[in-house]
Amino acid sequence: MKTLHIATGKPYDIIIERGIIDQCGTYLRGVSKAKKAMIISDSNVFPIYGGRAEASLKQAGFETSQFVFTAGEESKRLETIAQMYTALIENGFTRSDIIVALGGGVVGDMSGFAAATYLRGIDFVQIPTSLLAQVDSSVGGKTGVDIPQGKNLVGAFWQPNTVLIDPDTLNTLTPHFFADGMGEVVKYGCIKSEKLFETLEKENAPEIIDDIIYQCVEIKRDVVQKDERDHGERALLNFGHTLGHAIEKEHNFKGVSHGEAVAIGMVMITKASEKAGITPAGTADRIAQLCKKYNLPTCDTTPIEKIVKSSFSDKKSSGDSIGLVVLDKIGESKIYPVKKTDMLGFVTGK
Ligand SMILES: NC(=O)c1ccc[n+]([C@@H]2O[C@H](COP(=O)([O-])OP(=O)(O)OC[C@H]3O[C@@H](n4cnc5c(N)ncnc54)[C@H](O)[C@@H]3O)[C@@H](O)[C@H]2O)c1
Ligand SMILES: [Zn+2]
Repeated sequence: MKTLHIATGKPYDIIIERGIIDQCGTYLRGVSKAKKAMIISDSNVFPIYGGRAEASLKQAGFETSQFVFTAGEESKRLETIAQMYTALIENGFTRSDIIVALGGGVVGDMSGFAAATYLRGIDFVQIPTSLLAQVDSSVGGKTGVDIPQGKNLVGAFWQPNTVLIDPDTLNTLTPHFFADGMGEVVKYGCIKSEKLFETLEKENAPEIIDDIIYQCVEIKRDVVQKDERDHGERALLNFGHTLGHAIEKEHNFKGVSHGEAVAIGMVMITKASEKAGITPAGTADRIAQLCKKYNLPTCDTTPIEKIVKSSFSDKKSSGDSIGLVVLDKIGESKIYPVKKTDMLGFVTGK
């Protein structure tokens, strides 16, 4: 068992342990006096893990209920949140009860948002089951939903009481979604840890995934602690994301998944920063090799002009310039402001 303590406004522990789902009730008891616990999950995850979580919660004395929605990003919308509120009301949830998010990032983001807003805020815990959720979305307290105008445009900062990570759950994840999560894993190595990057190069990540998850969560924890509300340091986590989001958008969020788009974005921006003399030559190739090793793409057919134009409408781009995340070297990153009018030239190196 490995524990990481996160000292945000509301401090909590992140625990990594194989089989922890079967003990989630005990861990929840340690952080909550709630009478009722509602498991919020999706149609893929609940049939596999819901029963085990429920049994453990019951054993620890919680009165349990469940809300299960159709798996997939399409469900990440306000209508689903409204259904969650209904389920919480119907089950008599008060401010002292608790929500248990059991699933990937979609489950975590929506359960967290429902928890942040129901009765002006109730407790929740995260049991992330996808690689992306274990290394990224369950840590840091960002919750939210998509609206027709864009992804994650409505949300709240709301920290969980605890995060219970069970690496065993990754055994049932599809290879596609495993690769998707690896996009973020590679990103952590690029921005903060040459050691992690080299480990990913030398070893086969799935064989040492517990340690990889620990290293990623530790990096995200350190960043989030410095900048809980996303005003500075947290922007480094967007390495590969400015162009990546634009690529996802150009594909209408189908065809190229998030981790894949981030992989392409990391390689593209690093090629550009190499040409600008910021990053040592050969770095983009090294990132591309690593992405390929973990079944991630490294280029896209969308014309570069379209990608750059699309990146301007990113919610994080304000004013005349864009804060691009670039690498001084593998493991060291910084924000590099580029004027929007210079962006195409920067990205193409012309
Ligand atoms: N809050 C944050 O800081 C943050 C950070 C990054 C991403 N996100 C959000 O996370 C979401 C993406 O997360 P995701 O990739 O986990 O998506 P997801 O929740 O849709 O999970 C991916 C797929 O894997 C399935 N799945 C999950 N765990 C499984 C398991 N153990 N066995 C079998 N199937 C399993 C799910 O049912 C789904 O079909 C996006 O909505 C994104 O905006 C949030
Ligand atoms: Zn991401």
